[in-house]
Amino acid sequence: MLLSLALGTIASVLPKDFKWGTATAAFQVEGAWNVSGRGQCIWDYFQSFPGRIYMNETAHVADDLYHRYPQDIQIMNTLGIPNLRVSISWTRILPTGDVNNVNQAGVDFYNQLFDALLAAGITPWVTLFHWDLPQTYNNFTNQSTWLNPDVANKFNDYADFCFNTFGNKIKHWITMNEIQTFTWIGYGVGTHAPGRCSPSWGSWCAEIGGGGNSSTEPYIAAHNALIAHALAVQTYRNKYQKAQGGKIGMTISSAYAEPWNISEPQDHNAVDVAVAFQYGWFGDPQVFGHYPKEMTDRITGGRLPAFNESMSALLKGSYDFLGLNYYTSSYVHYTGVPGDNFGNDGRFWSSATNATGHLIGPYADSTWLNVYPPGFRKILRWIKNRYNDPHIYVFENGVSCPGESQLPPALALNDTFRMNYVFDHIMEMVDAVLHDKVKVKGYFLWSLLDNFEWTDGFNVRFGITYVDYNNNLTRTIKDSGYMYQNLIQSLGETT
Ligand code: NOJ
Repeated sequence: MLLSLALGTIASVLPKDFKWGTATAAFQVEGAWNVSGRGQCIWDYFQSFPGRIYMNETAHVADDLYHRYPQDIQIMNTLGIPNLRVSISWTRILPTGDVNNVNQAGVDFYNQLFDALLAAGITPWVTLFHWDLPQTYNNFTNQSTWLNPDVANKFNDYADFCFNTFGNKIKHWITMNEIQTFTWIGYGVGTHAPGRCSPSWGSWCAEIGGGGNSSTEPYIAAHNALIAHALAVQTYRNKYQKAQGGKIGMTISSAYAEPWNISEPQDHNAVDVAVAFQYGWFGDPQVFGHYPKEMTDRITGGRLPAFNESMSALLKGSYDFLGLNYYTSSYVHYTGVPGDNFGNDGRFWSSATNATGHLIGPYADSTWLNVYPPGFRKILRWIKNRYNDPHIYVFENGVSCPGESQLPPALALNDTFRMNYVFDHIMEMVDAVLHDKVKVKGYFLWSLLDNFEWTDGFNVRFGITYVDYNNNLTRTIKDSGYMYQNLIQSLGETT
């Protein structure tokens, strides 16, 4: 009774055209890594090094969505989920990354996938870059991958190719997924591709063929990725947007933060700094054309590149919507340590527990994920206030249940932990819309399927559908999937 009342209220609060969906990414689900002309990407290379991925697993087959997508579309239909976020594998359509070398079989695959989705009444939303950069751009120097400004031009060419090829079918483009994650972890910690870091940060980075500098490279790589985004948006607007009538933006990951010591003003201040170092790092350049003052004040020694005037002008306003991937929050504590080392730049550290030892929220299966639904509403409010009330899409939100991979499949289907997580987060989002008047336009649950969770391999599951890796990749919808179905249905008219 209470629940249906609550859901009734939500139905009248959310905009009529609110978009409900699930999200996936090519490298994590497609498999078919060397099929029909697909070229190598930096994650193919990275995962071939022993010790990089849990149990040395690879995404060579993953969920085999490449061959099994009709079945996965069927799951979306069964659950009545009207939108699916997928990414395009750059090297499946352009094996060397270069637009002069097109792999027609790859283009055909995406055309078939998009056609099948549309025929099933499901709208595809496309991410252009979800971390699988062509390996041809990796020459293991500080002039390779995203450290090379020219890769931004290559990305722009690739984006142009995609708009031109698929733009009659695709009306929502997401240029970049979580620049913070692939630069911070790929060039700072070194445990994501391309696996670069300072020798003092981790000896493992040397093995992979490159050096690294954890206190500069994440900023340089992110800078070039931001420019790549701005160039692609410019291309879309100049050449395609009017005729195709679509929208474009990027999605940004951000935790929220709470003060470690509630009675310490500096810790309250650290909250703002921490969020500016995450969402603001990419939000400010898009909206204002420059990096957050919280960052420029603190990142010493010229390590944070600056945008020249024309780049700043290009970045400013380079979005039709702002995207958010929200999973977790932490406590932050001001340290005052000057920022000359990777990780100290904000002069704060973060922790799952506060000064009195209180845990911010239960641990998920992922070591970095503590469940904190209130942080979701707070980050949404932060985005609204900082960026003058933009349209926001939540492109990822979801959880891995503690111990899920150790459970026999039949028990894993009863994923109460995920049901609670999803329900509580959606309620926070509704509060943000209802009480804070945040313009949230859609919510995409991560993820449709259990999949290759980067360094955690298949050991950490985020799906609302169970994939049995020991039994022919059989898919079975989990309880959370049916809960999501009910939630979408109860909310009435959604598209
Ligand atoms: C963010 C990433 O975009 C996605 O690839 C990843 O699997 C999820 N978060 C969960 O970690």
